[in-house]
Parts: sequence; structure tokens; C-alpha cells
Amino acid sequence: MSNTNSNTTTRQPLPSLTGESGTFSLIDGKSTAAAIKAEIKQEVERIVAAGGKRPHLAAILVGHDGGSETYVSNKVRACEECGFESRLLRFEDDLSEEALLAEVAKLNADDNIDGFIVQLPLPRHIDEQKVIEAIDYRKDVDGFHPINVGRMAIGLPAFVSATPKGILELLRRYHVETAGKKCVILGRSNIVGKPMSQLMMQKGVDATVTVCHSRSKTLKEECQQADIIIAAIGQPAFVKADMVKPGAVIIDVGTTRVPDASRARGWRLQGDVDFDAVAPLCSLITPVPGGVGPMTICMLMQNTLEAAKRRA
Ligand code: GUN
Repeated sequence: MSNTNSNTTTRQPLPSLTGESGTFSLIDGKSTAAAIKAEIKQEVERIVAAGGKRPHLAAILVGHDGGSETYVSNKVRACEECGFESRLLRFEDDLSEEALLAEVAKLNADDNIDGFIVQLPLPRHIDEQKVIEAIDYRKDVDGFHPINVGRMAIGLPAFVSATPKGILELLRRYHVETAGKKCVILGRSNIVGKPMSQLMMQKGVDATVTVCHSRSKTLKEECQQADIIIAAIGQPAFVKADMVKPGAVIIDVGTTRVPDASRARGWRLQGDVDFDAVAPLCSLITPVPGGVGPMTICMLMQNTLEAAKRRA
């Protein structure tokens, strides 16, 4: 399990770009994730050379949601890149809750499996929370089980949900100063906003954190004062230039598919930040795609390696 206070010293190259009002640097999630996956693979090969076993991740996919299919196949590919074994368990969307809980119980008891995920969303007739709570928290590499959420919240070693963990890793690898800085988080989801707020305020990170959401009255004013904005509100191009303090660091978690006739597939991914207008004001900004997204799967790999090491 990761100790969320750990530090890293790897420095990423900063590609500087010039916008209309200034120079900003891109936080390159794609190359950072590739570097981390290479580090993980090296460690795995060391473990195997010393007689240990390869980490083994299983994924349960129920139904045929397009986004979920893509995410899960990317996770399986990342396992190959990291030298892990993987197992994909696929079910039709008429799978009963009882049958899914039985599959979870089998994976909990399977000694070959170090960690597993149940890809969300699940069909409406299945209670997601019940399924999450049925996962053995020691194999919950998504970090969604209440035991992991609670342990993380009080600073104990825990599996931390991959997106906030990846964002923290990007801030560390790009040497973003967080101590005493004002960090505004847009969005209060269980997967991103809430755990992100806990991580940013914990000892060693030490930011002053404000969480804004759809009912916040002073969202714009809060953003205007922020040194770091983490946008996870799910509204395309929500963060505009007049909401950003010059020199701020902007992390964009949004990935909404918006229609785009110029693309063969008819859509493109749009973040929560109006990138072209905001980027020239910032010191650092994550692009969409290629920012936070690639880090998420790579943090799942890191959690799986941790799970395997603990079990060994
Ligand atoms: N659906 C969207 N993101 C995630 C994730 O990180 N884990 C799981 N299990 N399902 C998801």
C-alpha cells in the first residue's frame, strides 16, 4: 500500500509554449506515466529474477459500455507493459447482483490474484456500493473500499484512488510547491474531489484546500485566489481565463466527449478548462488528453505492485 507522504525526485522536462499573454509549461502526463511504468517493470523483473511471482491484476467488466471497454483494455495493456499478469472476467449486463458478488468472493479467495477491480459504472440493477464493500480491502487496488478511504483520510498507508494519486504524483514530479498554497478543487466526487482534498491537506503536502461544487456561491472568487486549481467538475471548458490568477498551476481532470466534425470518429475529448484561453496565464497546465488521464492507469499499476509486495 502506498504511503501517501512518500517523495520522489525525478524531474520531468518542461516543454515551454508561448501563448498570447505569456509563457507556460505543459505537464506531460503521457511521458511521466511511461517513465513510471518503466520503473514498475524494472522492479517486477527484479522480483521475478529473485524468485518472486509477477503481480496479477484481475478486472471484472459487466456489459458493453464503450468507455468501460476502452478503459479496461487500456488497463490490460498497461499490465503487459509493466510485466504483470492480468485476467479479464467479462459478463453480460443481465448478470445478477448475487452472481457478481459470488465472482467478487472468488477473487477475494484466489491466491493467484493480488488485486482486482470491478469496472464502473455497473448496470442499474446492481448496487455499486454493495459490490465495492464486498471486495477484500487488501485487494482493492482502486482504493474505493471504505476501509481504504478511511485509512487514507487519517494518513495511514492505504490504496489511494488512482486519479487523485496520479495528480499528486504529477505535482511532485514537476516540483510544484504545495506547502501553504491555496488549492481549489472543483468537484466533490468520491473518486476524485473528496480524496483529492484529503491528499492536498495532509502533512507533507500541506496545501490550504477549498472544495467548490455545483452549489458553491463564491466559486469564481475562490478560483481567482488559487495557486493551484484542480478541475474535476465534469463540465467542458468550465474554467475560463477570468477565473485564473496569473502564474497558477492548473490540473484538468475533465474528459467529456464533445462532437467534433473535423475528427474521423466525430468527437474529441474536452477538459473542464478552456485550455486556449487559460494556458497563457498559467505557470503549469495539464493538457486533455495527455495530462491526468495516462497517470490514472499507471497509478492502478503502482497499487497492484504494492498489493503483490504486501502479499509476498
Ligand atoms: N470507471 C471510471 N473510472 C474508474 C476507475 O478508476 N475504476 C473503476 N473500477 N471503474 C471506473
